[in-house]
Amino acid sequence: MRHARLGRSDLRVPRVVFGAWAIGGWGWGGADDEASIRAVQASIEVGANAFDTAPVYGFGRSEEVLGRAIRGRRADVLLFTKVGLRWDDARGDVAFDALDDRGVRRVVRRNARADSVRLEVERSLARLGVETLDLVQVHWPDPRTPVAETMATLLDLRREGKVREIGVSNFDVPLLRVAQEALGAVPLASTQPKYSLVARDIERDVLPHCAREDIGVIVYSPLEQGLLTGRVGAARAFGEADGRSRRATFRARNRALVNAALELAAAPVARAHAATLGQVAIAWVLAQRGVTAAIVGARTAEQARENAAAAELDLSAPESDALRAAFESLPLDLTRAVSFSARIRGLVGRLLRR
Ligand SMILES: NC(=O)c1ccc[n+]([C@@H]2O[C@H](COP(=O)([O-])OP(=O)(O)OC[C@H]3O[C@@H](n4cnc5c(N)ncnc54)[C@H](OP(=O)(O)O)[C@@H]3O)[C@@H](O)[C@H]2O)c1
Repeated sequence: MRHARLGRSDLRVPRVVFGAWAIGGWGWGGADDEASIRAVQASIEVGANAFDTAPVYGFGRSEEVLGRAIRGRRADVLLFTKVGLRWDDARGDVAFDALDDRGVRRVVRRNARADSVRLEVERSLARLGVETLDLVQVHWPDPRTPVAETMATLLDLRREGKVREIGVSNFDVPLLRVAQEALGAVPLASTQPKYSLVARDIERDVLPHCAREDIGVIVYSPLEQGLLTGRVGAARAFGEADGRSRRATFRARNRALVNAALELAAAPVARAHAATLGQVAIAWVLAQRGVTAAIVGARTAEQARENAAAAELDLSAPESDALRAAFESLPLDLTRAVSFSARIRGLVGRLLRR
């Protein structure tokens, strides 16, 4: 497994990091804990020994399952988790409102206040069964809490030895600047944005900024939640409890366009490298300047092994350019499907602001 230094921090991370959202089950139509544990252990065996999780993934389940899977192997792994999304505290703006696997309504709020951050870190340590978290990231900006308050608490936790490095996720460039300023001499180790062949917004500003400032960039959803593996054909159906049933890229027409581009542009590259389409999609993000590592979700040992092997795949510049050109020319319709309740909330909000 190839490694890279995470920004100016002391961490060296594998270029493929295991994403542990799906093993929490929620948002992915459930999970099989024993299969998840085998996936985590297979990932360690092939050297993809860093794991990205969050308290909100399965409302604690992802961290708990990950904790079980790494028991007795703490020294072999790096653990990345997050703070800032609470489902058990009434403070903060609503981030989303959804039913969990058992049909219980969960209202998730953005909350990166000092007391909440400390509590979340303590709970993550307990669920994972460890004494230190290698990287703690602010999951989403919390517009009601000054970034300086959140960072001051993370710095305290770092001094106490509970947190090794501090990162953020889904921050824009002005907020990245504020975060680094608040940390003073301690480097902002990383940011975690979305990035794939079909989601390239960060090329505009986040990637160049992080390259200039030497901030690590660990990108999420590089497979567009499985779509870029070519294994999501027209017939594959996702249940209501799987977020992909509502994801724009998975709509029938978009799905057909993506699969056609995979066949035309990615399949020849895959054949030339004796690789799979998914490995080509992962290798493509890793080939882009400024990307430190790709966080790839896996639900089985087989997926984990296949994804980890993508770190060894070097795409040539012409291959990388051809892939970019093929996907950017796709007329994907990514307009959000706005639910009826969201439309009503928007209307009421506009009327109240008048
Ligand atoms: N910071 C944030 O806001 C944020 C947001 C999203 C994700 N993340 C992080 O990034 C990680 C990765 O993103 P993601 O899980 O959204 O998407 P992803 O990595 O693009 O896709 C993961 C999904 O693709 C399918 N898959 C994976 N490997 C495969 C393979 N080799 N062959 C076929 N299918 C395969 C699996 O689903 P099926 O087997 O069910 O098809 C898997 O759950 C997450 O786990 C999480 O740690 C962070």
